[in-house]
Amino acid sequence: MEAKTITRERTEIERRIDIIEEDIAKIDVRLLKLLLQDKTTKKNILWCTTDYENLGSVYDEHNQILLEAITGLFYNVIQPRAAKSKEIQEMRSKKRAEVFTPSWVCNDQNNLIDDAWFGRKDVFNRPKGQTAWIATEGKIEFPEGKTWRQYVDDKRLEITCGEAPYLVSRYDTTTGDLIPPFARVGLFDRKMRIVTENCEMDDEWMKWSMRALKSVYGYEFQGDSVLIARENLLYDYIDYYKERFHAEPSLNLLREVANIIAWNIWQMDGLKYVVPYSCHDEETIDRQLSFADWDKPAERKPCPGCAKGDIHLHNGIYCRIFDWTNKCKSIPFISLFKKEEA
Ligand SMILES: C[S@@+](CC[C@H](N)C(=O)[O-])C[C@H]1O[C@@H](n2cnc3c(N)ncnc32)[C@H](O)[C@@H]1O
Repeated sequence: MEAKTITRERTEIERRIDIIEEDIAKIDVRLLKLLLQDKTTKKNILWCTTDYENLGSVYDEHNQILLEAITGLFYNVIQPRAAKSKEIQEMRSKKRAEVFTPSWVCNDQNNLIDDAWFGRKDVFNRPKGQTAWIATEGKIEFPEGKTWRQYVDDKRLEITCGEAPYLVSRYDTTTGDLIPPFARVGLFDRKMRIVTENCEMDDEWMKWSMRALKSVYGYEFQGDSVLIARENLLYDYIDYYKERFHAEPSLNLLREVANIIAWNIWQMDGLKYVVPYSCHDEETIDRQLSFADWDKPAERKPCPGCAKGDIHLHNGIYCRIFDWTNKCKSIPFISLFKKEEA
């Protein structure tokens, strides 16, 4: 593989919050391979950012993220946004509107969802000043007619999820400050609190922690952010497992968890619901063949969905998500949106 060697020292923020792909590969190469999978194409996710192209052709934005390109000598290629240089942060903001939401804002907005669900305020935490919060004490009570199981199963999606700060809050994506598990505010974190408070038996905890994981979804365009979001979810799950069992999860469990995450956090162009860059020009086939014009170059038409701005007409690869309910099968994400009658 041709690529420039990385000799950069890791910054203080990186040392604090960054998950090193090399460490995951050392635990188990299959685990990192799973986290790189694109379940729709059955290949790896794509870079979909030009930020790494100066490192060599393997980092071209249209290429898959190869395991060898982010491990070994290249172990510190991928960094979370908080650890990226100001120039790179600004470039990503300009190009892809990448601005990550501070944890206290995620908390305020996630609280609104729970206020509505529970029919009361301050269920998981109370604000302390404008930018901090204090976790509520004691077991959370459920309103009449609603159960903790329904809360865990209710689906949540973070659109254009970046590093997924609305789903998990291991660290503040804007400052890089680490957040201890009891004070985390993500949608998945909240479900895990409910699971831990309600499952006395270990096998029950295992079953419901997996259901919590299967109920949270996110999609994102840029491949490095997709990978970081997946890693954040994996490490968040491990934190809760370790708190519960005071032991490391088994490799089999980690692979099962990583497989769910690879389905539920997926790479997609959210304006088209397809795999990024998969829409393409089509050769027109209605060209009249005659001796006179048989050697004329074929005319090319753009993707009909892109040309008409119609999400149902793209010729790219529509992304698939997994329906973990009894149906247990993958479905195109776009099938969740009804076609408008012409
Ligand atoms: C404002 S950031 C929000 C990230 C995260 N949800 C947060 O609140 O911190 C917008 C995100 O949208 C992503 N994005 C931009 N265009 C997109 C597209 N067409 N499809 C999917 N994601 C896109 C960017 O890569 C970036 O991560």
